Amino acid sequence: MTTRDPRQRTVVRGGLVITAADELHADVLIEGERVTALAATGSAAAEAWTAGTVIDATGHYVIPGGVDAHTHMELPFGGTAASDTFETGTRAAAWGGTTTIVDFAVQPVGGALREGLDTWHAKAEGNCAIDYAFHTIVSDVNDAVLKEMDTLVDSGESTSFKLFMAYPGVFYSDDGRILRAMQRGAANGGLTMMHAENGIAIDVLVEQALAAGRTAPRHHGEVRRELLEAEATHRAIKLAQVAGSPLYVVHVSAASALDELARARDAGLPVFGETCPQYLFLSTDNLAEPGFEGAKYVCSTPLRPREHQEALWRGLRTDDLQVVSTDHCPFCYVGQKELGRGDFSKIPNGLPGVENRMDLLHQAVVDGRISRRRWIEIACTAPARMFGLHPRKGTIAPGADADLVVYDPTAVQTVSAATHHMNVDYSAYEGRQLTGRARTVLSRGTVVLDDGRWLGRAGHGTFLRRDTCHYLT
Ligand code: URP
Ligand code: ZN
Ligand code: ZN
Repeated sequence: MTTRDPRQRTVVRGGLVITAADELHADVLIEGERVTALAATGSAAAEAWTAGTVIDATGHYVIPGGVDAHTHMELPFGGTAASDTFETGTRAAAWGGTTTIVDFAVQPVGGALREGLDTWHAKAEGNCAIDYAFHTIVSDVNDAVLKEMDTLVDSGESTSFKLFMAYPGVFYSDDGRILRAMQRGAANGGLTMMHAENGIAIDVLVEQALAAGRTAPRHHGEVRRELLEAEATHRAIKLAQVAGSPLYVVHVSAASALDELARARDAGLPVFGETCPQYLFLSTDNLAEPGFEGAKYVCSTPLRPREHQEALWRGLRTDDLQVVSTDHCPFCYVGQKELGRGDFSKIPNGLPGVENRMDLLHQAVVDGRISRRRWIEIACTAPARMFGLHPRKGTIAPGADADLVVYDPTAVQTVSAATHHMNVDYSAYEGRQLTGRARTVLSRGTVVLDDGRWLGRAGHGTFLRRDTCHYLT
């Protein structure tokens, strides 16, 4: 919607606009829900703009709202459910400068993809503070499901499908099912997302560990061997090659799994990889924290020894990894993680992080690990392109949704469960000091957060239909 009525216009003045491509001192004109123009700060064009709302961004960055392409709000898992609802989780995301999430609708085993999507629409509709979209978790590949995939890609309701080589008896698919789903993706343009861990072998190691009395949280990391992530990643790549399909490997944590991706990309295959803040900032040292504290860090793929972090940062710099998402899947320590006291295999898998991702990655800019533009690329632009949301999301350009963050690069914060907005009783980054913080957040032209004041509302967020992956066209 464009308007000549200045009362419905907003101008963001005086900030350093950062996109994946450029950094420029520019003012941004917003009309209704969209960005309509950028002009150099102080230029005659920018000075001529009149607006009902003027946001002063002097001394701040103006960046696209973050796109978190991997969240699990209210996911039923391990006899409980992720503790953030779509309402609390999307509000927390916005506090952290993320304005779009892509969550996973789960196909019930024996049911249809449609059933999973209907359930997820019912959970999200009217509750989200920011825009949202859905991938589909395919837990039961059959002929009817393959046909449904075509329909979902055509309509844009879900153009990416996650399969699991892990979790036998829950989400697991064998190689034949995976191949069939990939072949369908090759034909209809859908993107196969893979949880690459050899779950059959892992289950043997879990059984042996428990029988030997190795029941503490740190054994979760030990049985989910790096080799079994690398092996599954290699197998997924080969299956995708046989099917002629693209592949996106989620939550890459092991250096050797990343090596497999790099090799495939060097060979020119359409293979992509995502890692998550927990693998960049946390390690097996956290899993080994005293008592039962390590349960807070149980997720799959698991945290790895510190040395892997360097490899992941390098992969982000060299574009062997394209995206950083959170895999936000929070479970409270009290009453949820505790389900696994005395048996690490019963600890619900997942970490909170949707509120922390943009700031943790900005800290990597401060620390000299990545450039500012690469920060925006891996956190906003690449996920939007990967999942068919660009240029509506993930950038600042005429025609894009006015999802903007006025970011204070000098604000210092100490991360804590006492002050975060996620509905979970601990922070995986408790006590960590970070430089940088979202000051003002706009979602489709509406200010939802300003200077520590929440102005958003549940129901503002709309469901997004998506194109297919833009890296393939
Ligand atoms: O531990 C994790 N990652 N929990 C969420 C489910 C998944 O595999 O992404
Ligand atoms: Zn997974
Ligand atoms: Zn996940």
